[in-house]
Amino acid sequence: MPVGACLITGGTGYIGSFTALALLEAGYKVVITDNLYNSSAEVINRIELICGKRPDFEKLDITDERALDAVFEKHSDIDSVIHFAALKAVGESSEKPLDYYFVNVYGSICLLRSMTRHNVTNIVFSSSATVYGDATRVPGMIPIPENCPLGPTNPYGNTKHTVEMAITDHIQAQRNNAQKAGKEADGAKWNGALLRYFNPAGSHPSGIMGEDPQGVPYNLLPLLAQVATGKRDKLLVFGDDYNSHDGTAIRDYIHILDLADGHLKALNYLREKHPGVRAWNLGTGRGSTVFEMIKAFSKAVGRDLPYQVVGRRAGDVLNLTSNPSRANEELDWRTQRTLEDACEDLWRWTKNNPEGYRQDPPKELLEL
Ligand code: NAD
Ligand code: WQD
Repeated sequence: MPVGACLITGGTGYIGSFTALALLEAGYKVVITDNLYNSSAEVINRIELICGKRPDFEKLDITDERALDAVFEKHSDIDSVIHFAALKAVGESSEKPLDYYFVNVYGSICLLRSMTRHNVTNIVFSSSATVYGDATRVPGMIPIPENCPLGPTNPYGNTKHTVEMAITDHIQAQRNNAQKAGKEADGAKWNGALLRYFNPAGSHPSGIMGEDPQGVPYNLLPLLAQVATGKRDKLLVFGDDYNSHDGTAIRDYIHILDLADGHLKALNYLREKHPGVRAWNLGTGRGSTVFEMIKAFSKAVGRDLPYQVVGRRAGDVLNLTSNPSRANEELDWRTQRTLEDACEDLWRWTKNNPEGYRQDPPKELLEL
């Protein structure tokens, strides 16, 4: 099937920018929208430096339905959307739940309505492993398959679950209505991928593109990176009394390039196979503990990074490890990079770009 034009909402963010790169490299035309709340437009230059192609960029807020309409009208060749734009800080979502429902849920409704008006019928949605909540509450669900009962445990996770339901209901209604119309109505073309990611990690191997959050990071690897650069004294390990082999919690860390490739494969699948709505886990299927992550990142940095064990973080669960076989089989997608690759790539990005996208890329990396 020929490649098309794809709108990537939240496309200057961490996962969105790597997905834009993967789509451009595969020959897609890419239009990025973002309000730059948690990202920088500089990433557009980095994408172009790496692949020689520049995505279009339209600054807009995902809750501005008229602005979305204008983008679909201006770029009338768009036939698909990958929807990343969202607020994502789990802790903050408990303090400001309405902000999360407004951007994540209402923003997604605006997008679906605007897509419908413009007959854009493929959506790939950034869901999260957080929709499963504590999968250990159900026997036999580790590693977690897509049919694990959902049970998010925080407002952020609730917004992701809600949007999964809204997309599912909308697509089913579009397809049912088309069937009732008894002809090849536009609604029959609707497809959705609900991608439940585990823990994204790493950066581009070139060292010029990586995660650059605007505020204080809260995820393990960006915090460890700050310990390595001296911005932080030590890592606080949230609990060593879990039921794991070393007492720390287990996560499935997936290299950002593999995650981006999963989006490309899911988009191709929607456009070629027209499956309706389907959920896929994007993870490696391998779990690592916090202590194992400290060891792996320390090895990449070349020295032991200091840490201190403190109490558990509220809302954390013992084990979030994926069963990725559905994506492996149906999407013909498999992770290719190791945890060591993710740590080495993250360190190359961190040590060369202490100011993230606020500084020029180091010349010696551009010459490679
Ligand atoms: P990110 O913050 O880097 O990217 C999100 C982008 O959305 C940012 O560029 C931000 O500026 C933009 N945005 C926020 N509010 C907006 C608004 N009102 N209008 C327009 N744009 C807006 O985060 P990320 O890690 O790249 O995550 C991307 C998606 O993946 C999010 O939907 C997130 O919930 C989901 N996700 C992330 C992780 C993770 O650990 N990073 C895991 C699972 C799912
Ligand atoms: C990983 C492990 C911590 C920081 C979150 C969201 C999830 C998804 C990915 C968006 C845990 C431990 C961490 C620290 C630590 N995002 N840790 N000290 O919590 O698995 O997932 O990001 O959808 O929804 O919940 O990721 O990187 O915060 O933590 O010990 O300073 O590292 O307890 O076991 P998490 P994380």
